[in-house]
Amino acid sequence: MKKIVVLISGNGSNLQSIIDACQQNRINGHISAVFSNNADAYGLLRAEKAGIPAHYLSPEAYADRINYDSALLKAIDQYQPDLVVLAGYMRILSPDFVQHYHGRLLNIHPSLLPKYPGLHTHRKAIENGDKEHGTSVHFVTEELDGGPIILQAKVPIFEGDKEEDVIGRIQTQEHNIYPLVIGWFLDGRLTMKENIAVMDGDVLPAQGYASE
Ligand code: GAR
Repeated sequence: MKKIVVLISGNGSNLQSIIDACQQNRINGHISAVFSNNADAYGLLRAEKAGIPAHYLSPEAYADRINYDSALLKAIDQYQPDLVVLAGYMRILSPDFVQHYHGRLLNIHPSLLPKYPGLHTHRKAIENGDKEHGTSVHFVTEELDGGPIILQAKVPIFEGDKEEDVIGRIQTQEHNIYPLVIGWFLDGRLTMKENIAVMDGDVLPAQGYASE
């Protein structure tokens, strides 16, 4: 059985969608451990409830990002993961960490990348009068939110929408597409070659698959 380690910082609704997909055999793999940089992350409780080892690693206990990431990497590698999944992990990763997991590190970002890397994507989309917004699953490279995109999902933005309306719509899509991509990866269908995402032997277009 292929092994997944998930990194979170908060609510963990995406983590929950991955837990559910593993339990329902929609993913051929299991989550070996969950790590959080935030002691109060609700996702830690979700993991415990599912019987998954849940760890909190305090950033304050380390001198800097490099030391923190090196300790995190060692702790993760105890589980010998086939795949490391960032699911609402809100810390920038050091280059050494990213390189160590090159080709087996996935992230979900709430925008139609390359539009709106970074934070507050929903607010930016509303303020700019965008008619659509979305979410992207991508391989992680050293460029922040810049790795090759695998799958995107779009949602509409309606007149008068508040940030939480758009977040809710986006998260519904995220809970569908993230388990799907993780399943593809663990089935050996998806790889990253020279910073390009390849699926079933075909190079994926720059914005991955688009799904409405
Ligand atoms: C998700 O919407 C994810 O796309 C976003 O955080 C949320 C976490 O929700 N990630 C980022 O913004 C990363 N840059 P969750 O904790 O309920 O899964």
